[in-house]
Amino acid sequence: MLDERMRNILQQMPKAELHIHIEGSLEPELIFALAQRNGVSLNYATVEELRRAYAFTDLQSFLDIYYAGASVLLEEQDFYDMTAAYLARAHADNVRHAEIFFDPQTHTARGVPFETVINGIWRACQDGPVSATLIMCFLRHLSEDEAIATLEESLPFRDKFIGVGLDSSERGHPPAKFCRVYERARQLGLHLVAHAGEEGPPAYIETALDLLNVERIDHGVRCLEDPELTARLAREQVALTVCPLSNIKLRVFDRMDEHNLARLLDAGLVVTINSDDPAYFGGYMNDNFIATFEALPLGVEHARQLARNSFSAAFLEGEAKRGFLDQVDRFFQQHANTNTN
Ligand code: ADE
Ligand code: ZN
Repeated sequence: MLDERMRNILQQMPKAELHIHIEGSLEPELIFALAQRNGVSLNYATVEELRRAYAFTDLQSFLDIYYAGASVLLEEQDFYDMTAAYLARAHADNVRHAEIFFDPQTHTARGVPFETVINGIWRACQDGPVSATLIMCFLRHLSEDEAIATLEESLPFRDKFIGVGLDSSERGHPPAKFCRVYERARQLGLHLVAHAGEEGPPAYIETALDLLNVERIDHGVRCLEDPELTARLAREQVALTVCPLSNIKLRVFDRMDEHNLARLLDAGLVVTINSDDPAYFGGYMNDNFIATFEALPLGVEHARQLARNSFSAAFLEGEAKRGFLDQVDRFFQQHANTNTN
């Protein structure tokens, strides 16, 4: 068990969340409320029955339920309410800044206009209690042409998001499939990230860097299978947005004490801890920190490093980034005696 002091540090330290799919923050209670509001019928009779279906065997088994859950989102207010609920929950975990993924194709494919999606999410970010920016993800199980069409559709809203990402079914959909759309996004001055090395092989991490020019890797935990790649990630200080509870729920690792997060840190990688899809994986940011620190040989110095990494890897500039890093440093000066670890 984690001692009280360590638990307090993890809960109270300022942190940034860099890997959260906003559709994955949709709690079963809100799914049912929105289904009723919008007259959408669900395949589950009760909240409990839906929750019982959250027994995943791999990424695809999760995605099937996650896309079904998102089907209740129809109006701008629905996207607003979902995002506002996430931001309130993140604030309670002392998240000071969030870079939020959204999947427009999940909604436009159902006839929901792009502007309904982005305006609802964006407005909640403006009204929210923490700093928040948006990253638009392309669904990798769809074609590159569809991703390009989505990027074109997003252009009138270019000032409402800061980057693009790549998510959904990883195996069989390598980064190489999306070279042209990433090049176009780069020309538009957007930040670039991609999921790679969650279920897919280390080679996907390498091609995300070399062919897509991504600045961060989402997940990336399978990098340790390739020592040369690991050395490169350390040398180039490429941040990995690791999601421990997600990795257990989706069976990337069988148990938390088998998770490689401590080894990633030992290898000198810029590791961050994130929640991925908190409504589905049993926890928000602090739940992820606590579960990880309970299972692995990690102490105060690691907590400080992870909090610092979350802001140094964030797409924040100058003063804003320095201000958050100062908050972390002040917190650890005041609350933690790092010499005891
Ligand atoms: N979409 C939502 N969560 C995801 C994950 N963990 N991996 C890939 N796509 C996702
Ligand atoms: Zn993810």
